[in-house]
Amino acid sequence: MSDTASPAVIRRADYAQPAFLIDSVALEFDLVPERTIVKNTMRLRRNPDGAPGARLELMGEALELVSVALNGVPHAEHRAHEHGLTVENLPDAFELTIVSACQPAENTTLSGLYVSSGNFFTQCEAEGFRRITYFLDRPDVMAIYTVTLRADKAAYPVLLSNGNLVEEGELPDGRHFAKWEDPFKKPSYLFALVAGKLVAIEERIRSGSGKEKLLQVWVEPHDLDKTRHAMDSLINSIRWDEARFGLELDLDRFMIVAVSDFNMGAMENKGLNIFNTKYVLANPETATDTDFANVEAVVGHEYFHNWTGNRITCRDWFQLSLKEGLTVFRDQEFSADMQGGDTDEAARAVKRIEDVRALRQFQFAEDAGPMAHPVRPESYVEINNFYTMTVYEKGAEVVRMYQTLFGRDGFRRGMDLYFKRHDGQAVTCDDFRLALADANGRDLTQFERWYSQAGTPRVSVRTAYDSAQRRYAVTLTQHYGDCAPAARETQTGPLLIPFALGLIGRDGRDVPLRLEGETQAAGTTRVLELTEAEQTFTFVDVAEAPLPSLLRNFSAPVVVEYDYTNDELAFLLAHDSDPFNRWEAGQRLATRELLALTARAAASEPLSLDDSVVAAFARVLTDESLSPAFRELALILPSEAYLAEQMAESNPAAVHAARQFMRKRLATALRAEWLAVYERHTASGPYEPTPKATGHRALKNLALAYLAELDDPVDAIRLANAQYDAANNMTDRAAALAALLAAATTAGAAAAQPALDDFYRRFENEPLVIDKWFAMQAMQRGSLDRRIIDVVGKLMAHPAFTLRNPNRARSLIFSFCTHNPAQFHAEDGSGYAFWAEQVIALDALNPQVAARLARSLELWRRYTPALRERMREALERVASQVKSRDVREVVEKALA
Ligand code: TRP
Ligand code: ZN
Repeated sequence: MSDTASPAVIRRADYAQPAFLIDSVALEFDLVPERTIVKNTMRLRRNPDGAPGARLELMGEALELVSVALNGVPHAEHRAHEHGLTVENLPDAFELTIVSACQPAENTTLSGLYVSSGNFFTQCEAEGFRRITYFLDRPDVMAIYTVTLRADKAAYPVLLSNGNLVEEGELPDGRHFAKWEDPFKKPSYLFALVAGKLVAIEERIRSGSGKEKLLQVWVEPHDLDKTRHAMDSLINSIRWDEARFGLELDLDRFMIVAVSDFNMGAMENKGLNIFNTKYVLANPETATDTDFANVEAVVGHEYFHNWTGNRITCRDWFQLSLKEGLTVFRDQEFSADMQGGDTDEAARAVKRIEDVRALRQFQFAEDAGPMAHPVRPESYVEINNFYTMTVYEKGAEVVRMYQTLFGRDGFRRGMDLYFKRHDGQAVTCDDFRLALADANGRDLTQFERWYSQAGTPRVSVRTAYDSAQRRYAVTLTQHYGDCAPAARETQTGPLLIPFALGLIGRDGRDVPLRLEGETQAAGTTRVLELTEAEQTFTFVDVAEAPLPSLLRNFSAPVVVEYDYTNDELAFLLAHDSDPFNRWEAGQRLATRELLALTARAAASEPLSLDDSVVAAFARVLTDESLSPAFRELALILPSEAYLAEQMAESNPAAVHAARQFMRKRLATALRAEWLAVYERHTASGPYEPTPKATGHRALKNLALAYLAELDDPVDAIRLANAQYDAANNMTDRAAALAALLAAATTAGAAAAQPALDDFYRRFENEPLVIDKWFAMQAMQRGSLDRRIIDVVGKLMAHPAFTLRNPNRARSLIFSFCTHNPAQFHAEDGSGYAFWAEQVIALDALNPQVAARLARSLELWRRYTPALRERMREALERVASQVKSRDVREVVEKALA
């Protein structure tokens, strides 16, 4: 079990090769929900590079040992214990057969072998395989697997595992079997099996070299009408990896299976990806445009792991970003290409903006708290706690920087060399960096700091224009500001920061760039390489004082400090040729205003917003030359969580008041414009999930959301009700319901109730839609006489609510605790008491999910004193009661 008295710290520096290697594994399963028997026959040999003479220490958890045999003969020299099985007196090479039992029906952790809706599933990453059988459950032990599944045929007609189906047939007593062989060696975390009543859609395609491939998406029968988009996304992923990276599908058969009880998004098991239903099932009636995009991204992500993760895997879990950062980067590029192709920079920027927004809101926050860690962590207590925004999203930014430094072609050369050198191996982040360096003839020693230093770097910018000399000097200074102690400890020196910059003239056009020492100007965006604590870059031939466009396309995961005036930001918002920075200018302008408003709200001073700010947003709203998707992104104000994070002392109530004030002001001042935009972007006709149609819906629904902010939201209520009734897709129906919930804050709860009730009845049999129903209510705005904690409390007792299903728990509890800050951080501490209760309850069922919820209080020290004190009490209560090392690591680090 993951319960231990004093959780041990695992350190990267302690890595040692395994004492034994496993060449092949034959697994036989007798699948019974209450007690499944697993017979595991392994061929082992001593590792010539391992510790000589060591005993065999197999990992095992929540297993019942039945028997051990050496080369077919019962072997008595073994001892089963809390963490596994020790076997002694072994030759240098041998066959070991272990029979054990586990209890899938009782397994609420969703790690190892478990039952969901009557079907069997596995989840092995990171350390779940040891809950299935005794094994060297570590990623640097790679073996060939043969798997035989036996089960009752009526209850489990479909039997799946990794690789190719080589045999199937009938057995006595209504049972049957299937035998699978995976031709590729793999680490145990990529093992998977699925058994149950499932159906599939299938496609046969030819891969780049002309081989036929069978593609399947397996779901429960009632979900078959929601599989088309996942299948299309899979085919697009296969094509994209061939075209962009020359990587072909290496198996004859590739399967995706959907399961409704799942801890995370999806899992890249070799040839048998297992997905949370949320990232597979989509049709227009049940899934929003965001859901469609997420399905595409996650299908791509798991598919891309086949090369970046499976063919080349991680030596140890400290190297997790080797596969995750790289694969997130690949899925981001895939989604951008699907949106805008190679060339439509504005369409590609939409994806970039969404990704950067998430990075800033969640990864920067992680870097600022007690869980701060480098992309390649130095230590952990529970590895499941390190599947983080830092490892995934900052890791992807680190990979992106290679591409920014070397260009797409240079990056591709590095990838090619990486596969040439390491295919079939378990390697490190250093191996990846060296392949990129060698392929491009560069020394990337300094670049390692991106993997070893935690905290969010800051780049301060000073500029000086010399009109006599026509020179423009840009001085960049890098530092970490006043960062979290957990991050400070890791910092050793300056980073290599690719800093993309452009200069904009008074006419709004880019100035051709010529650095001192260059013979002629080249291009209008330059990637400066900042390698020292401070460096000055001087541009020559600059005819007038330009306006700098800094860190174009967010070329490095840093905070840029530069004092733009409001007028300059408005100018950039109107003119920057870099679409990312155009958005960025609007966000800076809004953030500055909102933080000023927050300070006034905190001091109970009256709030007001300058007309020039309203005018800047009005220009975006009415600029028909901008795509609707871009306008929507530019008109969403920075989130409350992001704003609170920018304050010296976070004050969620003041942030909420400020942001609501600005939303209402923009709604009121631009009421006619919002109405016009709403009308203009309302489309009739069949639903299409294309980027263009998605953009129109997004802008229209943003208009509806703003109209719902008006003091008298009659228009919003009328339009939302009509939209709700007429909707032929979930994007419009859910947006209409959300607008009604928002309008209900002023118009009274009755304004939303009929639609809310209808929504439930209409989608009663669609769990993913009912998740939305819970989430929307948990995230709705409260008022003095209507606290959302009370709404949430009632919903906890709803017959459709259960803590056992992670999606459902997330939809209600996480939505409230992490996406409704103003209500969650209620002054009386009621939100925190609720949080503590739920963390403790979840911990008994599913430590991984409990630990995620536990993290929502980790920034407690950054809040106002009254809130801080209440948060500490709640954390202490959890610390005194939880059992799992997952939650203990989180709360102990928070309190330390
Ligand atoms: N490797 C998976 C991915 O990135 C994520 C993953 C890690 C996971 N551990 C898990 C998924 C546990 C489910 C449960 O795609
Ligand atoms: Zn992944």
